[in-house]
Amino acid sequence: MAPRLSALGRIILMTTLLIAASTTAFAARYPSYGMLTTKTTPAGVMTVVINNTFSSINLFDAHVQSDLANLIEELQANDTDVRVVLFESGNPEFFISHIDVNYFFPGYEDPLPHFDPGLQNMTFPTALLWNITQLPQATIAVIEGRARGIGNEFLMSCDMRFASLSPSVLLAQLETSFGLNPGAGGAMYLSRLIGRGLTFEYVFASKDIDAATAERYGWINRAFLTSAELREYVQQLAARIALFPRGGIIGTKQGINAVSRPSMDVLIRDAQNVIDALAATPAPFALSQNFLKATHNQSLGDLELNYGTELESLFK
Ligand SMILES: *[C@@H]1O[C@H](CO)[C@@H](O)[C@H](O)[C@H]1NC(C)=O
Ligand SMILES: *[C@@H]1O[C@H](CO)[C@@H](O)[C@H](O)[C@H]1NC(C)=O
Ligand SMILES: *[C@@H]1O[C@H](CO)[C@@H](O)[C@H](O)[C@H]1NC(C)=O
Ligand SMILES: *[C@@H]1O[C@H](CO)[C@@H](O)[C@H](O)[C@H]1NC(C)=O
Ligand SMILES: *[C@@H]1O[C@H](CO)[C@@H](O)[C@H](O)[C@H]1NC(C)=O
Repeated sequence: MAPRLSALGRIILMTTLLIAASTTAFAARYPSYGMLTTKTTPAGVMTVVINNTFSSINLFDAHVQSDLANLIEELQANDTDVRVVLFESGNPEFFISHIDVNYFFPGYEDPLPHFDPGLQNMTFPTALLWNITQLPQATIAVIEGRARGIGNEFLMSCDMRFASLSPSVLLAQLETSFGLNPGAGGAMYLSRLIGRGLTFEYVFASKDIDAATAERYGWINRAFLTSAELREYVQQLAARIALFPRGGIIGTKQGINAVSRPSMDVLIRDAQNVIDALAATPAPFALSQNFLKATHNQSLGDLELNYGTELESLFK
């Protein structure tokens, strides 16, 4: 005869089943590499530190993308108490350097699906950033270090951007210098932030912008003299927003996204599909090979640090 469970036994069994169910729901979909450190104090505020330990320049490679996709899945769930997410970098020179340029070219073995299984006509990195734009949390990039290409697109996928006035803060969309275009919509987002003329200037020239100028143009919300002032301001802002009900954050974001984000179709057709077509032409391939050689395979050095002033050496 099957033993009958006591009331306590039933409670324990149900609790175990519930824990098992929620563990299943949050089982990471993609491999985890430990590139992100998260902390959830004070209540409602999650701080995410991005540190690619496979890369001296905090490359936005498959390791970082895989971990970010798992984090996004967790943040999208409706049972999280997180109201505000702060993204920081563990690398003082690079917030996020850029994408692994190998991604676009023959021979790259992608450990991630090329197209996102959920947003099926978006490539994986494009879907990742798109998902960040519509997380049910307020998102804030806390910028110390360089962010170029998809690094800058990541910043613009966040709701707000704050930086320190450190000389290591340099932002750019550098794709045009490779014969490409900002494929995750970088020039589209930037047009809304700084206007058409300045976007053409910075993106055509693949120029770096420093924190003070970026603040003046509206590329970032604000720049602070010191790292301590940056952190104090951002912590206060985050703690305040975290007091408020989730519905207001989600509803407000829906409206701001509706008028200040490119539509998904436009982003796919006029940014993502354009870079995919350009990447199949000879010039970007040749320039990327030169770049890999000159950077010693995307390692810390003069070209990665000062791409904005050093890039002309690639054309001589
Ligand atoms: C980031 O990773 C590097 C190793 O690549 C390590 O030396 C450094 O301490 C890490 N930084 C943080 C803030 O965890
Ligand atoms: C969270 O709730 C929203 C609104 O009801 C819904 O559209 C979304 O699919 C839910 N997300 C998950 C992961 O259940
Ligand atoms: C993006 O979000 C969709 C749900 O809206 C999900 O199906 C997909 O897996 C997510 N992709 C990434 C890369 O986060
Ligand atoms: C992308 O997919 C969505 C839904 O599957 C569809 O509505 C949209 O037209 C597609 N866009 C492009 C540019 O292919
Ligand atoms: C370049 O670095 C990547 C990792 O970022 C590695 O997989 C690849 O083997 C390296 N290539 C060379 C030629 O060293």
